[in-house]
Amino acid sequence: MSRPQGSTRLATATESLERARGLDRTIRALSTAVRRTLRTGTIKDTLHGVPIGHPAHPPLTDLPMGMWMSAALLDLVPGTRRASQTLVAAGLAGAVPTVLTGIADWSAMHREQQRVGLVHAASMATASGLYSASFVARYQGRDAAGRAFGFAGLTALLAGGYLGGHLAFRQAGGASHADQTAHLVSLGWHDLCSTDDLPDGWPVHRRLGYISLFVLRTGDEVHVLTDRCSHLAGPLHQGRIVTDDNADTCVICPWHGSTFRVRDGAVVHGPATARQPSFETRVTDEGTVQVRPLG
Ligand code: FES
Repeated sequence: MSRPQGSTRLATATESLERARGLDRTIRALSTAVRRTLRTGTIKDTLHGVPIGHPAHPPLTDLPMGMWMSAALLDLVPGTRRASQTLVAAGLAGAVPTVLTGIADWSAMHREQQRVGLVHAASMATASGLYSASFVARYQGRDAAGRAFGFAGLTALLAGGYLGGHLAFRQAGGASHADQTAHLVSLGWHDLCSTDDLPDGWPVHRRLGYISLFVLRTGDEVHVLTDRCSHLAGPLHQGRIVTDDNADTCVICPWHGSTFRVRDGAVVHGPATARQPSFETRVTDEGTVQVRPLG
């Protein structure tokens, strides 16, 4: 297959990784095991980053990467043995939450993302193993071996970091996929549909200009959110309507189970971390539902 103009060999090889079906059997087994272990609840939500409003894994990767790259630099400077050893150890400690959050996010991704993510994880696991060996060697006073393991670990770390960048930016693994209403809807009220067209308690799909909307009528109230789930753009109007512990009406995304409060789009459970954009609604005397974006 010819290489698209402008792409480097590296980018083309990584794109072909997205299509590597040979990884699927392993991915199926691993992601099923993770999903069975990580049940919906506070721990899972925390690992995804729900409390901070964006995925927790990407910023956490700065811990091991920063520590280990700094250790590699110090390994080139005479008389920094103890400082370098401390950085290797701190990187290993920082790798623990980084791995846990990464596994949680990976288990709820599209298959193309999971293929790249699996190789990213394997590279990072190799880096962690080599840095563990580096730490042990330094602890035993075998500094030359410790430095050699460290530089080998750095190679795996850079490879894994590159794949992580591809996953985050090319495949938008952690970005919000919800429509950004501020750019797509003008200010003021907009006619949407007639209340007679809305079944009670059953979500439907409507369009407002370029935007797909999730619309739910519950008695006299009408709730409107953007339809593309902020996690990976699943269709919320095909989701299940439930009531949460606070008696709030919520919708569960049909793709990976993110749960949003229909009143304001707040995330009740991940993997989504970004609030679903919501709309203020009113009904005219003629029975027309009107919407405007919530500021
Ligand atoms: S698309 Fe993943 S939870 Fe909605």
